[in-house]
Amino acid sequence: MSSVHYDVEGCVATARIDRADRLNALSGEVQARLTEAFAAADSAPGVRALIVTGTGRAFSVGADIDELATDPEGAARQLHASLTFLSSPERMRKPVIAAVNGYALGGGLELSLACDFVLASEKAVFGVPEPTLGVVPGMAMQRLPKIVGIMRAREILLTARRLSATEAHAYGLVTRVVPHEKLMDEARALAQDVARLGPHAVELLKATINRNFQGDDLLYAERANAWLFATRDAAEGIRAFREKRAPNFGGLSA
Ligand code: COA
Repeated sequence: MSSVHYDVEGCVATARIDRADRLNALSGEVQARLTEAFAAADSAPGVRALIVTGTGRAFSVGADIDELATDPEGAARQLHASLTFLSSPERMRKPVIAAVNGYALGGGLELSLACDFVLASEKAVFGVPEPTLGVVPGMAMQRLPKIVGIMRAREILLTARRLSATEAHAYGLVTRVVPHEKLMDEARALAQDVARLGPHAVELLKATINRNFQGDDLLYAERANAWLFATRDAAEGIRAFREKRAPNFGGLSA
């Protein structure tokens, strides 16, 4: 069974991550299937918008911790692949709506940041837990200051606190909060609103807005993050998560 279900209804495509037992963690497999779904939606002549959502109690909890590489070269390769993947909705021609049905943590939050709209169920929870593992959220650390402002970005990044849907909306991470059971209907209605506009105009507007996010910021994030994965702190943070206990970080040495 595929980890991502893709279907098209009228002019709206939907990609639903279906890995509920792992809270839709973005394994290599999930990333590959979502990449195929993004390409299919972008190239299908009749499709005008794509909705991305998750099965169960998570949109996605980000990178699959069981697959994390912990050597600098392996981590660099993995970070390059995952940052390219996470930012790919920004490079699509057609608008993408994140329908956030539950946890959007780490890469899950970052994937939503790359979408054009973020509709959040009132059950959605946003946050970047990476520092609790001793690493950093490469895309969020670059993009959050631009999206929510520096003071709010500091709070989100430097405390790794989880935000409710309402808080995430107040912070500017979310387009709109909707009742949980209406999430997909609202997402489809939003897709229909966009589909009524001129597709070339929408494409140009999207590309123009996303010019703010071009450049080498993700390359910096990739390089800066890779060495962290090879530190003792990261090894301890990842081990502690697997063993379901608090990490015992070593601290900075002179
Ligand atoms: N990668 C791989 N597996 C993950 C995962 C991830 N990012 N997040 C959760 N899981 C797994 C858990 O290990 C658990 O597996 P198990 O049933 O075999 O023990 C299962 O998904 C359910 O998660 P669990 O932690 O038991 O659920 P919870 O309701 O107690 O907590 C979260 C939910 C989201 C708060 C918690 O799972 C969490 O903090 N996840 C890590 C998120 C993260 O750090 N993401 C960034 C990765 S770089």
